[in-house]
Amino acid sequence: VSPENQQILSASEWVAKLYHHLLRFTKDGKKGYQYLKDRGITDETIDAFQLGFAPEAKDFTAAFLDKKGFHQQTLIKSGLLSQHEDNSVSDRFRGRVIFPIRNHLGKPIAFGGRTLAGQEPKYLNSPESELFQKGRILYNFDLAKKHIRKQNQAVLFEGYMDVISAYQADVKNGVATLGTSLTETQARLLRRYVDTVIICYDADDAGNDATYKAAGILQRAGCDVKIANLRENMDPDSFIMEFGGEAFQDEVIKLSLTFTSFYMRYLKKDFNLTLEGDRIQYIERVLEHLATIDSSVEREYYLKELSSEYDISMDSLTQQIQSHRQKMG
Ligand code: GTP
Ligand code: MN
Ligand code: MN
Ligand code: MN
Ligand code: MN
Repeated sequence: VSPENQQILSASEWVAKLYHHLLRFTKDGKKGYQYLKDRGITDETIDAFQLGFAPEAKDFTAAFLDKKGFHQQTLIKSGLLSQHEDNSVSDRFRGRVIFPIRNHLGKPIAFGGRTLAGQEPKYLNSPESELFQKGRILYNFDLAKKHIRKQNQAVLFEGYMDVISAYQADVKNGVATLGTSLTETQARLLRRYVDTVIICYDADDAGNDATYKAAGILQRAGCDVKIANLRENMDPDSFIMEFGGEAFQDEVIKLSLTFTSFYMRYLKKDFNLTLEGDRIQYIERVLEHLATIDSSVEREYYLKELSSEYDISMDSLTQQIQSHRQKMG
């Protein structure tokens, strides 16, 4: 690590402590503390994730770090301070709840800040740097690692709050990408520790599209993929808030779907299944996917489902799939 990056690590550690202390114990941080309480987050969880609050003032953080002797240029590079067009410098994070982003050794290297006031962006993140590359890091990997290894399974979420709520619900093998789509690097990292990854993204259109993409990336990295059984238009955090942690474990995680089940449902969005022509095309697309499954038991399982749902004989479905498999070689 270069001397400058060493300084950035050190400044980040100070700032994580500062924001956490403000949130937990001071009047200045009360707003952030109350916000997390309203979202059902306990003191214990706040401490485990070192959640914090960045005050509204323009140069609170700048003054604090200046007193500690850090160079302004270094702090600008780290993204803790922002330099504006008129060259003035101010704190990057103001009036936001702070989620420190830790590297895989547990050291804070960047921050996410959530607005309390409905400002845009909802989450403001540190800029990328040599130390912080979004595509190479998974949020909470350092804490989740031992649980991931022990369970031979990881749960992949979209957001900070999903990871944190799940943790509080005793699902401790959760990690998240940082507002970007899953990369091959992240998939390979997970694969080193697990056979199975459960994708638990938001059950909305964007989340379903992202699930489909992430599943492909994980499968190509050699992972078995399952899809959490979240009901429509919920995210994991809102599910836990409404139905509790036990329901999350028993209904969402334990009842995860196979990728094929998810896919058969996901594909329907491209078709109007009340039309005969669309129905046939849909079945064709499903068969193309089923043809790629090596286990004949698994193939037959889904074929039966298709056969009964669309009233087509097992014979003709089987014939069609065999012809696909022959073409595949
Ligand atoms: P809450 O509203 O706090 O529950 O957040 P959420 O995690 O449910 O938000 P959402 O599903 O919209 O986004 C998922 C993740 O994407 C967040 O945790 C962030 O990491 C990221 N994200 C969301 N909004 C923004 C944004 O405006 N800018 C950036 N850079 N990232 C965002
Ligand atoms: Mn969003
Ligand atoms: Mn979302
Ligand atoms: Mn969400
Ligand atoms: Mn949410």
